Amino acid sequence: MKRIINEIKLRLPAKSVNEAVARSVISAFMAELNPTIDELGDVRCAVSEAVTNCIVHAYRDLPDGVDGYVYISARLYDNRELSVEISDNGCGIEDVTLARTPAYTTGELGERCGMGFLVMESFMDSLSVKSRLHKGTTVLMRKNLKP
Ligand SMILES: Nc1ncnc2c1ncn2[C@@H]1O[C@H](COP(=O)(O)OP(=O)(O)OP(=O)(O)O)[C@@H](O)[C@H]1O
Ligand SMILES: [Mg+2]
Repeated sequence: MKRIINEIKLRLPAKSVNEAVARSVISAFMAELNPTIDELGDVRCAVSEAVTNCIVHAYRDLPDGVDGYVYISARLYDNRELSVEISDNGCGIEDVTLARTPAYTTGELGERCGMGFLVMESFMDSLSVKSRLHKGTTVLMRKNLKP
């Protein structure tokens, strides 16, 4: 049975500045397990993509001046596993399988390329995406750090 050795919960306004904040907080949090530079880079990238999705997509229908929130909860386990859950209370995704298809995007042409989920999937060991329309989206990622 794996045991939790540390955990963190964060709630950040869905503003673009908080993509870097989330990345830095997760880096500091996982430092306890002495990750390699590569592992650190992988997790930073995956977290950036998930948080950016909340900022860019989840709250696109909110009026200007009203902020949604990004909720992050991370855990370290004694078997050197890191889990990071990133969620929002935004618009949700109608078809998660379609959304996860590489190059699929509802974002603006030239700005988004539909690669975020693929990046999360390739840099982490597992990725699960749960979403309900008009309720929000939760992305759960796990990574096993080298012994
Ligand atoms: N948190 C979310 N809330 C609502 N829709 C989302 C969310 N995350 C992803 N999506 C939907 O899934 C699509 C694919 O996401 P993905 O991150 O793979 O690509 P992208 O964000 O469009 O482009 P990129 O990440 O390459 O800039 C998005 O275009 C959007 O329609
Ligand atoms: Mg994206």
